This record gives sequence, structure tokens and C-alpha cells, in this order.
Amino acid sequence: MKKLFIKTYGCQMNVYDSARIADLLTPLGYAAADAPDDADIVVLNTCHIREKAAEKVYSELGRLRRLKEERAEQGGRMLIAVAGCVAQAEGEEIARRQNAVDIVVGPQALHRLPEMIARVERSEGRVLETDFVPDEKFDALPAARADGPAAFLTVQEGCDKFCTFCVVPYTRGAEFSRPVAQIEAEAHRLVEHGVREITLLGQNVNAYCGAGPEGNSWSLARLLHRLAEIEGLERLRYTTSHPRDMNDDLIAAHRDLQKLMPYLHLPVQSGSDRVLEAMNRRHARDHYLRLVDKIRAARSDIALSSDFIVGFPGETDTDFEQTMALVREVKYPQAFSFKYSTRPGTPAAAARKQVPEQAKSERLQALQSLLAEQQADFAKSCEGLSMPVLFEKPGRKTGQAVGRSPYLQPVHVDDAEHLIGEIHDVTITRAMRNSLSGALTAVRPKGMAAA
Ligand code: SAH
Ligand code: SF4
Ligand code: F3S
Repeated sequence: MKKLFIKTYGCQMNVYDSARIADLLTPLGYAAADAPDDADIVVLNTCHIREKAAEKVYSELGRLRRLKEERAEQGGRMLIAVAGCVAQAEGEEIARRQNAVDIVVGPQALHRLPEMIARVERSEGRVLETDFVPDEKFDALPAARADGPAAFLTVQEGCDKFCTFCVVPYTRGAEFSRPVAQIEAEAHRLVEHGVREITLLGQNVNAYCGAGPEGNSWSLARLLHRLAEIEGLERLRYTTSHPRDMNDDLIAAHRDLQKLMPYLHLPVQSGSDRVLEAMNRRHARDHYLRLVDKIRAARSDIALSSDFIVGFPGETDTDFEQTMALVREVKYPQAFSFKYSTRPGTPAAAARKQVPEQAKSERLQALQSLLAEQQADFAKSCEGLSMPVLFEKPGRKTGQAVGRSPYLQPVHVDDAEHLIGEIHDVTITRAMRNSLSGALTAVRPKGMAAA
């Protein structure tokens, strides 16, 4: 049996693609390897979003080259493939900088990987494919296999928004939505294999506009309503959303669909209109705040999450203060924040007023400590509450299981390993930094009054 090792960087869309790569190669006789050391093929599924993410790939390739050479000395062979967004953005450069790489494959061409491997094995030399063919990709991929009770399902790829800091429109190409029937079939199959929760994925998932059964285009809200009808599918989520595409029908779905979990990742990036404009976000601070009000009116307990960039070119202390003020106003149970990273080829990279590193660091620290405070406050407010938890995997302690709350927090529960794959009410006993502890909520026998 041949062995495959995949290392995944970046966002959930890459996690989904890595699982599909495994699905593609399993029928060819590849089994998962625990480490690159004993793999016949190593795939790095890469991320280009920030400079650090991209540079990691080159250092990993250096390590892999040494492994590959050792293997060759022992008379064996190891193939190295670079997939994902770095492959798309700088495939030629990878090939130039690291000659141990056999295959470079962009995210929209990954279904061609088996054929590319065959070509390398026939010793045709290095193979590089970076076409944008999302429709061909999804038609060609084998049925997704379930791996645990919670699954990702990509419904939309690419982005037409062109925020001035971002590489995604260049690495993933134009927006493309999969047809409803294809998504429904994948969801049904996942549920038949034990999946209870599906997170719909897209770089711009709420811009979803796939073809419905009659050929007319469906919104994300309509798709969610359809998927909510699937028996056995208990929970739905979707990510990542853009404020511009947060329409009323999608907001209403948070009120109307019990299965739609009360968590929404809605990145704002900055609280300053001046910066938002320069970022080409095409939404103002006020628009975002009004959206938040509407969403909370539809689903009062919704946990909002966001991404922030500090130190965008031209960001002043006053601009940054507006971001801090927005965070204080909204209050986020969860959020991600980054220093602006210059990405070659994006409009912001050419801006004259880059923010000094020192200011970026100070701002990031201030923002992160505020966000950490809010996250801790939210977690604390969960103590004593009983909430449904989907148990996903064993915990560190024997017998323990880890699941997710409706608000996406990891919840650790002792003596619950036998409940993996099921949803049970858990009373939260303790809030820790990044997770919660709880105990199964005692079920009161019928007819007994509360104490
Ligand atoms: N489509 C999503 C985000 C995709 S990228 C959206 O529009 O919100 C994930 C996050 O990475 C972004 O939200 C942004 O906060 C961050 N990011 C993107 N480009 C960046 C850059 N050049 N420097 C720092 N952070 C960046
Ligand atoms: Fe990037 Fe903006 Fe598109 Fe999000 S919406 S992927 S930040 S260009
Ligand atoms: Fe990274 Fe590509 Fe996702 S750049 S964040 S892996 S879309």
C-alpha cells in the first residue's frame, strides 16, 4: 500500500480541499501516513493570505527535500506536490526555488492530481497546473467521505470583491457557485454516513447564487431552507460572509431555521470609514452596525465573530481608535485579528503610507487584549447554562469527549466518549481561556418537579 501525507495551511476551504485530495487518491491505493517520513507522496496544501503563511511553505519544502534525498539514497522515491493558494500565486517561483517539487497544482485544478501523479511517475518531469476550472473540479471530484459528525461542504469558490489588501481573488479566481442539486446530494451522502452538522463554505459564502433545480438562481437563504429539510441533519452553519451580501432573507433564516446555529462570522476589518473605503470593502461602519442590530433582532443570542486588520496603509491612531470603539460597541464572543501584511500584486501593497511595524504591533496588542476580554466575558456568561453539544471526538482524558456548543465553543465533558456523534444537553460548569467544561445535564424523570 502506498502512503499519502497532506499538510494543510490556511482556511477551512483548504481543509475541505485536502479531504477531497485524500478522497481522490484513496481509490488509487494510497492510505494516510502519520508523518511525511513514511509517505510516498507529500502534499502541502498552502495559504497565501499573509507573508508568513507563504514563507512557511518554503521552509517546509527545505525539510522535505532532505527527506526525499534520504529516500532516494535508500533506493526509494517520494513525490512532493504543492497545492493551494501559494501554488496558484507563485507556482513558477516554487518550481524555480525548490527543484525537489514534482507537482504544482492550483486549488481549482486539484481534481487533475491523479493524472499529474501518473505523469510524474512515467518520468515526464515536473508537472504544473493552475487553470481556473471550478465547474470541472466539482464535477470531477469523487463523493465526499464523512470523517466524524461535523463536516465542511464547499458551496461557493472564489471572490469578485477585490479588497485592496487581499490575494484571494487572484488565487481562487472569480466567484463560482455550485448547483443546488450537487450540494444536496453531497449533504445527503454525508448525513447517511453519520454527519450531524454541516458548515457551508465559501470565500464569500453569502454571495452564493447557484442554479436551482429549474435553472433559476438560488440564494444562500433558500439553500439553507432546503438543506434544513434533510432528516438526520441537525445543525447548519456557513462561513465566511461579507457584510455587503448579508441580505434580509438570510437574516430572517436566523430567526426561522432552528437548525441554523446562532453563530455568525461577519468580518468588518476596520471601524474607520476612511480605512474601509481605502480597503475597497464597499460597506461603511454604520451599515455594519445596523446589520448587527438587525441580526440580533432576528436571533437575540447570536454570537458574532469578525476578522480585523490593523496597520492598513494610512491607518492613523484615530482610525484605529474607531476600530476599538466599534469592538466595544458590538462585543464579539470570538474574533481574529492580524497585522496588515503586504501582498505583492495587490493595490494596497503599492500605497505610499505604510504603517511602521512598531505601531502595528502596539495596535494589535491593544485590540487582542480587548477581544480576549470580550471572549472571556462571553464564555463566563455561559457558566451555569444548559446547551446542546454535538460530541465530535475523544478528549485528552480517558472517557472524555469534546464537542461544540451552538456558539462554536469547544466543550469538554467527562464520561461522554460513548456519545460521540450525538447531541446532548450539557450544563456548563467552567469557562476556560479557549474552551468550556461541562457535565451532561441531568434529565429529570417525567412528572418530577424542579427542586
Ligand atoms: N472572505 C473573507 C476573508 C478571507 S481572508 C472576508 O471577506 O472576510 C481571511 C482574513 O484574512 C480576512 O478577513 C482578513 O482579515 C485577513 N487578511 C486578508 N488579507 C490580509 C493581509 N494582506 N494582511 C493581513 N490580513 C489579511
Ligand atoms: Fe478577500 Fe475581500 Fe474577497 Fe474576502 S471579500 S476574500 S477579504 S477580497
Ligand atoms: Fe489562504 Fe487561500 Fe484560504 S490564501 S485563507 S488558503 S483561500
